[in-house]
This record gives sequence, structure tokens and C-alpha cells, in this order.
Amino acid sequence: MDYLEIVGGRKLSGEVTISGAKNASLPIIAATILSDREVILTNLPNVVDIRTLLKLLSMLGGTVKHDNTVAIIDNSSINSTKAVYEIVSQMRASILVLGPLLTRFGECEVSLPGGCAIGQRPIDLHLKALEAMGAKMEIKGGYVRAEAPNGLHGAKIVFDKITVGGTENIVMAAAMAHGTTEIINAAREPEVVQLCEMIADAGIKIDGIATDRITIVGSAGKTLSFKKPIEIIPDRIEAGTYLCAGAITGSKITLDKVNQEHIQATIDKLESMGCSFTINNEKITIHPAKKLAPVNIVTAEYPGFPTDMQAQFMAVAAIADGESLIEERLFENRFMHVSELNRLGTDIWLKGNTAAIHSTDELNAATVMATDLRASSALVLAALVANGTSKVKRIYHLDRGYDNLEGKLSALGADIVRKSE
Ligand code: EPZ
Repeated sequence: MDYLEIVGGRKLSGEVTISGAKNASLPIIAATILSDREVILTNLPNVVDIRTLLKLLSMLGGTVKHDNTVAIIDNSSINSTKAVYEIVSQMRASILVLGPLLTRFGECEVSLPGGCAIGQRPIDLHLKALEAMGAKMEIKGGYVRAEAPNGLHGAKIVFDKITVGGTENIVMAAAMAHGTTEIINAAREPEVVQLCEMIADAGIKIDGIATDRITIVGSAGKTLSFKKPIEIIPDRIEAGTYLCAGAITGSKITLDKVNQEHIQATIDKLESMGCSFTINNEKITIHPAKKLAPVNIVTAEYPGFPTDMQAQFMAVAAIADGESLIEERLFENRFMHVSELNRLGTDIWLKGNTAAIHSTDELNAATVMATDLRASSALVLAALVANGTSKVKRIYHLDRGYDNLEGKLSALGADIVRKSE
């Protein structure tokens, strides 16, 4: 199994190019099911989750040509509507094929994703919304079997909770439904926005893009013809992670290909810790703090502070001058990194969904285990400043969502190598 060996204490410098967003690519790949013509996607990140979803499309009968950042997908040949457990259990986001398969083919069977390292993550809101659009649902043998032989119809959907994946599934389902769907309390994440824009560019009338109330007039069963090529937006979480790398190592580094608006919450928090920024179109340079100040964070839906940046900030806060507090409001179990960070010498205490991060003078190298994608990057960040040589194990989590993390960090001057055991 691969692990990362990191010798702490190196300053970073130079420029790093941010890849396309994993969480924008996944719904966009699922949305290609709405078309029976060729779709070209560019700027995909080279990560395992993308390959997993493309594999699922191939298993459904779609034709996929994939080369690092570009995929050419033709879903005219789909001949199965069953998303099997073997794929869905590897990646929960596979549930995103539910809406598009059902709305295009009138039936599908998708494995239930099951538990997850960061919380229960049910899909009840996706199912309830599709039922409101006329789907008949049955859960049997670990699969959701959905039917709508005459197609889905428009409906007014009020999400009890803001859900990114739920909003995406319903936007896709609504795009080919009969009539108008109104989504109230919709997610406004940039990834949802890009999905809506892709569908709107295909001629579907969508109002309220980037707001919490989205209205979609469906094509009444007609497949969509997407504009070519579709370029994936920059990954705001990868960008935030590199900004944290600059902050924790006290280094000036520049990120290229970022959308500053998408990372504003991260910039604001790093500014409150004493870092400053120069922004020039798609480039952003972080100037590190002389002394990192503590920070208080409460995770929230976009445009609030992203839960996907919580673990990385915990690593940075660990070496700040004073106590920081981080409250996790989205997922009930997203603190698995705490005990591993403490093995590197941080002093973090948990009470309910809040972590108190006490200041530590220095971190010391250790062998640690990654527990989920963002937890893994927090461990890497802490290891960059720990005295000695750390090993970060179970990095298959990292490979799911960070494009060439060790290559990009070592190009910035970090002492980091991938090894196998
Ligand atoms: C997306 O997950 C992201 N994944 C996650 O990224 C991210 O952490 C999350 O949104 C929140 O921003 C992708 O985009 C592929 P949700 P998603 O539905 O869509 C509850 C990463 O590291 N909920 O917005 O699954 C749910 O349990 C990750 O890249 C229900 O109760 O998240 C959670 O508490 C991991 N019922 C909250 O809503 C439902 O039917 C928000 O979840 C659906 C969700």
C-alpha cells in the first residue's frame, strides 16, 4: 500500500497550478447521461473518483474515452440502468446517476451508498424529491429501484436541509421532466452553479441559478445537446489546501487558475489569522503571517466556510498563537483527523461538534493514518512542519480527490515522496 514520507521544516516557494474541481466534475459527468450525443469535458482533475464515475458510465454501456484531464463521453449506447454496489460503495457520489438515469430511461436501480467515515450521509432528501416528481421507489436488497414509466413531472421541492448532491440530482431529473420544477432551499455551491449553467447552455430554461430557489422547465423527455467542450471550474478546496500549506509553513506561494470568489471564506479566515494576499486575475499569492493568530470557525453551506476545509484549518490553527475553536455543523462525525493530528503533537480537544485547538510550540513527526480525503490533507499539512520524518498512511483517500498532491508540493520545495510497502 502507498504512503507518503514527509520530512518537515522545509519552506515552500513558487507557483502551483490548481486542477479542475472534483466535486464539479462528478455531477457534470453524471449529467452527460441526459444526452445521447457526444460530450467533451476538459480540465478534469486526474483523481480516482473521476475514473470511478467514468467506469460506472462504461458499465452502463456508455462510450468513454479518457485521457488525464479530458473525457469524451457518448451515452447514446447506454443499455443498462443499474448502478451496482461494487462501484457505489467505492464512491457515494455515484448516487448522482439516479436522477439522470430515471428521468431519461423511466427506470433505474442504484445501490444504496451505505455508511461513510464522516457521517451517516443519508439520501432520503434525494428520494423524497424524486417521489414528489412522480417516481415510484422501492428499497430492496440494498438497492433503490425507481420507476417513472411515463417520465417524471415537475414539482415544488422544499429541501428540509440544504443538500449539494440532492440539489444536483433534482436539477438533472428536472431537466428532462414534464413541466416546471421549483427547488426551494437549494444549494448554491459553485459546483451546483456550473451544473445548472451546463444544462441552461443546452437550452433548458433555468431561473435562479446561484440562488436558493431554482426553477427548471423540463424538456418533456427530450434528450439534451450539450455545448462542447465543457471546461470544469477550478477546485476551490484544492486551492484552499495550498493556501493552508503556505500559511502553515510560513511561505509565500502563488496559486494559478483559481476563482477568487469561490475561495473567499477561506481567504477571510486566513486573513484573520494574519496572512495577506495579492490577487491578480486567476492568480493568488499568499503572504504568510509573521505570527499566526488563532481562528474561530463554524462550517456552513456556501458561501459560508466549507466543511471540506475544516480539517486543513485545524492543522494550521494548531501552531497559531492562542486557542482556536472549530465547530462542524454539516457532518456529525467529521473529526476523525483529531486523534491522528494529536499523534503529531497537536493539542486538540473535542466536545460534541466543536474542537478546541490549543497552541503548541512545535509538532513532531509520527506515523499517522488518513481516515478520509480532507483528513488526509490535514495530516500532510501538519507533517510539513513537524520535526523529523512523518509517514502518512492510507493515502488512497488522498488519491480520490487531490491531483498529484506530492508532485505539486515537492515542486514547491516540500520534502515529500510516495513510497510503497
Ligand atoms: C457534497 O456532498 C460534497 N461531495 C462533499 O465533499 C461536501 O462535504 C458536501 O457536499 C458538503 O459541502 C460532492 O460534491 C461529491 P450534502 P453531499 O448532501 O452532496 C445531509 C469532499 O471531501 N443530508 O450537501 O453528499 C448530510 O448527511 C466531500 O470532497 C441528508 O440528511 O453533501 C449532511 O449532513 C466529502 N439527507 C448534509 O445534509 C440527504 O438526502 C449536507 O450533505 C442528503 C444530505
